[in-house]
Amino acid sequence: MTANAAAITSAPAVTDEEWDARIRAAKAALGERLLILGHHYQREEVYRHADVTGDSLKLSRQAADSRAEYIVFCGVHFMAEVADILTRPEQQVVLPDLSAGCSMADMANLAKVERAWRELASVLAPDETVTPVTYINSAADLKAFCGRHGGIVCTSSNAARILEWSFARREKVLFFPDQHLGRNTGHRMGIPLEQMVTWDFSQPMGGLTPEQIRAARIILWKGFCSVHQMFRPEHIDRFLAQYPDARVISHPECSFEVCQKSEFVGSTEYIIRTVAESAPGTRWLVGTELNMVQRLHERHRHEGKSIHFMSPTICMCSTMFRIDPPHLCAALEALVEGRVINRIQVPPDEAAEARLALERMLQL
Ligand code: 13P
Ligand code: SF4
Repeated sequence: MTANAAAITSAPAVTDEEWDARIRAAKAALGERLLILGHHYQREEVYRHADVTGDSLKLSRQAADSRAEYIVFCGVHFMAEVADILTRPEQQVVLPDLSAGCSMADMANLAKVERAWRELASVLAPDETVTPVTYINSAADLKAFCGRHGGIVCTSSNAARILEWSFARREKVLFFPDQHLGRNTGHRMGIPLEQMVTWDFSQPMGGLTPEQIRAARIILWKGFCSVHQMFRPEHIDRFLAQYPDARVISHPECSFEVCQKSEFVGSTEYIIRTVAESAPGTRWLVGTELNMVQRLHERHRHEGKSIHFMSPTICMCSTMFRIDPPHLCAALEALVEGRVINRIQVPPDEAAEARLALERMLQL
């Protein structure tokens, strides 16, 4: 064994309690200069340190209202970008691990969306007839695209209101990157499935004919969440066969079939509230990320509620999981020393256009 290897293997491991204590000490040292935001999918060891927890919409609003010098975002990359766009220039946003992305957000990029817009222009005049709507799970340059083209951002908790706003202006919507949120929301608003077509971004013209494009009300980008696609309608059937009185609740990133079989569909914040408000003793089947479902189970089991995860296999958001106590601790201790590591900064021109699309949403 080399001297270096010996040094590494003999280094004492930092225990969970030590990470916890160091994070608390750094938080105390930074006081009101620091705001830690935590998404509901964060693991418990990180979540407990958040000053505010929430879904994407709530956390965006918190970032916009904050006066803290440093905002440490325990979530994924697009969320930290939104926080940077909505805060003042002197505030700095930190993502403890820069590799915490979102695989769904990566399914759309500016080159592909601009190509789609050009291809749509060969059939209709998109700037007059199509509102581009981007799910908040998208890169800042796509929000900027929506800002430039009269479009808007939505989250899983306001998608129906955003679609209403969009249809009041133009007759069609190009919805990206999550086909499921778009389809589930459109269907609940009464739009027939045949009027919602899927744009396959790997094919010319999205794989659609001019007639299909002209007849569509919503053009759905063919993106999806790899976590929520794990939930299947047969999981619900099996569970209800065993527990006929159980209630079923799902996130709108789940497939159309899963949402159709769910009694309730809504954002992470909505799921938490609905389960909390249910009667003691209720049994729930929940179709969303594992860390959140486990936390719900722990929180409510003393009321006799029983909260079950929808998939028989473990599926977590692996990128949310990248934010762990060592990364959070390193980010905070650097701030105590006056160093900002892993800062997220959206270029000013892009931020200005993205802010337009975000503010249209926040004003609704
Ligand atoms: P929420 O808006 O419900 O927090 O969802 C964000 C997300 O990424 C779900 O996968
Ligand atoms: Fe992205 Fe899915 Fe993870 Fe949400 S759960 S951050 S949509 S990969």
